[in-house]
Amino acid sequence: MRIAVVGSGYVGLVAGACFADLGHEVVVVDNDERKLAALRSGHVPIHEKFLPELLSRHRGQRLTFSDDLQEAVRLSSVIFVAVGTPPTGSGEADLSYVESVAREISGGINSYKVVVEKSTVPVYTSEWVRKVMLRNGADPAMFDVASNPEFLREGTAVTDFLFPDRIVIGCDSGRSAAVLREIYAPLTEGRYSERPDAIPQPDRASIPAPIIVTSTKSAELIKHASNAFLALKISFINAVASICESVGANVNQVVHGVGADSRIGPKFLNPGIGYGGSCFPKDVAAFRAVARECNYEFRLLDEVTRINEEQRQRFLRKIHSALWTLRGKNLAVLGLAFKGGTDDIRESPAIFLVQALLQEGSKITAYDPAAMERTREVISSGIKFANSAYEAAHNADALLILTEWEEFANLDLLRLRSELKYPIVIDGRNLYDPEVMAAQGFTYYSVGRAACHPDGVPAAALRNGKKA
Ligand code: UDX
Ligand code: UDX
Repeated sequence: MRIAVVGSGYVGLVAGACFADLGHEVVVVDNDERKLAALRSGHVPIHEKFLPELLSRHRGQRLTFSDDLQEAVRLSSVIFVAVGTPPTGSGEADLSYVESVAREISGGINSYKVVVEKSTVPVYTSEWVRKVMLRNGADPAMFDVASNPEFLREGTAVTDFLFPDRIVIGCDSGRSAAVLREIYAPLTEGRYSERPDAIPQPDRASIPAPIIVTSTKSAELIKHASNAFLALKISFINAVASICESVGANVNQVVHGVGADSRIGPKFLNPGIGYGGSCFPKDVAAFRAVARECNYEFRLLDEVTRINEEQRQRFLRKIHSALWTLRGKNLAVLGLAFKGGTDDIRESPAIFLVQALLQEGSKITAYDPAAMERTREVISSGIKFANSAYEAAHNADALLILTEWEEFANLDLLRLRSELKYPIVIDGRNLYDPEVMAAQGFTYYSVGRAACHPDGVPAAALRNGKKA
């Protein structure tokens, strides 16, 4: 099938490369000339496992890049729209890029086309896309608008796309549904994973991939509701972690007990400094705005956002309670990305905390396996960048863990302790076991668990001057 993908961001580029790997002819269109030039010359603008391999496999063959949207439309039978839908000041999704793309697509309709929303958009967007295309002269019999939300996570985007938990196609005509079924057939018939050159399948892969066919409106809502519910799970466990801290319970034990319930499940119950990224914060706000437009006060989502923002403040207070004053303190920071496995710092809780600590006069030496380049673009002074976790820890008053990179969970603790001025670790991602850290001679603070001190006396008891 000949496919055009508009937008070469995280979603567009990964979708384009994966569609090519499924055997389709793909043209990725973007209006950012610098990005196009970089992609054509072999550069990979985002840090995603397996993406460089797919791009080098198909670039110039089944995968091309263009800035000419109308020509791409003329040559393709399906157009996926994956342009940005950033938040406006009031939290609604800004759909002006989607509209301008819809207008331009209208001019390229030379045979039956399916226009598919791939970006995260509010319910009703597909109706608006149709209206805009009709207003701009598109023949109603010559196109359908469909919704095919993307559930890929940054860091595992390629395997999430090729081995999805489900493929949702929202169509209001049998014809468009048939076209989308055909595009995904290598995944829904299990043929892709049998190929010798297939991207390795992750452990939990459901093969063949289940397909869920709905109306366009339901598909649009599935995406918002899914992201809002995942964000809710995270805020819920962070709220429980705060209660654990007050009563001296251990949130990891609580997660174990709660997550063992098959109706709940353990996933997305990792407490920490809150969720970030280009999706959850904006999609929770956008879903809240959609509900308001439908005269439904979805206050639960306000609480999800409030708990998430509070979590960052709580961690800042935890740093104060561990270190007292912060002015002039040398702090080692492990992690800048909004989560492990990506170079993306959009809405990163780590970046928020680093900026707050710099504001309080702390000196920061930071290390992140992938996100330091992007951080340099947003934080230019008061921060030093190290080449390793140990270099960052050198002579620091304390070490903060802010992003859940796997390598940070497997550090040589003896070496780490020898680098630090004081063996104090404040872990915003609960990567270590408090007792292990205490046994290794650290004073260790984390989220939802009692702080631990080398001689096993809970730090809290020491602060209150009482011996246990
Ligand atoms: C996108 C959507 O923005 C988001 O709603 C969804 O949740 C995930 O997919 P992402 O891929 O991260 O997010 O977007 P972004 O990185 O902003 O990339 C969008 C691309 O579209 C950019 O390369 C931009 O240059 C391009 N674009 C934007 C166009 O080609 N034309 C436009 O009119 C607007
Ligand atoms: C998310 C959705 O998971 C994905 O389906 C959608 O397509 C896009 O948005 P992404 O933003 O890439 O993906 O990252 P995700 O792995 O969901 O993590 C989001 C944030 O939540 C990160 O800041 C992460 O650190 C945090 N998180 C995640 C927690 O704090 N606890 C958890 O248990 C899981």
